[in-house]
Amino acid sequence: MSAIEFAGVTLAFGARTVLADIDLRIDDNEFIGVLGPNGSGKTTMMRAILGLLPPSRGAIRVLGKPVARGNPVIGYMPQMRGPLDQLRLSGWDFVASGVNGHQWGLPLLSRAARREVAWALEQVHAADLARRPLAETSGGERQRLLLAQALLGRPRLLLLDEPLISLDPHHQRFVVELTRAVQQEVGITVLFSAHELNPLLGALDRVLYLGHGNAALGTVEEVVTGPVLSRLYGSEIDVVRLNGRIFVMSGGHDVERDAHQHDHSEHHVHV
Ligand SMILES: Nc1ncnc2c1ncn2[C@@H]1O[C@H](COP(=O)(O)OP(=O)(O)OP(=O)(O)O)[C@@H](O)[C@H]1O
Ligand SMILES: [Mg+2]
Repeated sequence: MSAIEFAGVTLAFGARTVLADIDLRIDDNEFIGVLGPNGSGKTTMMRAILGLLPPSRGAIRVLGKPVARGNPVIGYMPQMRGPLDQLRLSGWDFVASGVNGHQWGLPLLSRAARREVAWALEQVHAADLARRPLAETSGGERQRLLLAQALLGRPRLLLLDEPLISLDPHHQRFVVELTRAVQQEVGITVLFSAHELNPLLGALDRVLYLGHGNAALGTVEEVVTGPVLSRLYGSEIDVVRLNGRIFVMSGGHDVERDAHQHDHSEHHVHV
């Protein structure tokens, strides 16, 4: 059974088509890197898999069933995570806030729910972080707590939207490796969106590249090529491989890196 299946799927906002007539099949237990320029539809695709945006054409199936809102088999880490205004809370309380229906200040969690929170924290090696106030954690440590939150309820599919934004290369690698380890240990399908391919190399099974309404799914060797990316970017792209890293170049500049830096400046404006 496929984890995710798109059959002739078009995703649109009114007259604006984001993805057109997409067919794809993602297997159980695959780690998929989702790439593509700003506005190519990475977030939109995840929202459609969550059942938050009905396709204007075609059908999406998740683990063999038609998409549905509030699907308990999916864990989701949204891109817009907003300011963490509960900084007084401990890491434990923060993760626990993701338990279904739990609200700040409401009665204690059931024993089963507490066990679930402890299990999720253990998966990301954050038992020690759980005791510390959120205010004292680094960006990378918070990302681990967010990953723990997405694991609550033991989903079979994880949608992680840009978990690497605003992390330095060291923490990026840590988050990718941790996600890969959890994915293999728990046995879960992961869609992991990012602006840059390099931090994901070595962890991903296949890459899903979006652009200009199209999608290309395959191994890095199949998809990250000049002809395929030129079609997705709508301009002449050169793929340069150097010391085990891959650079996606257009007219002499690195298009992925440019987008990434753009993210950083945006991040500072919003925070
Ligand atoms: N609620 C909405 N209403 C109208 N248009 C939208 C809405 N959400 C997204 N879009 C548009 O859909 C397109 C795809 O957006 P999406 O957020 O999926 O891109 P993305 O690949 O996640 O980009 P980024 O790398 O910036 O996160 C963009 O052109 C965006 O402006
Ligand atoms: Mg996005």
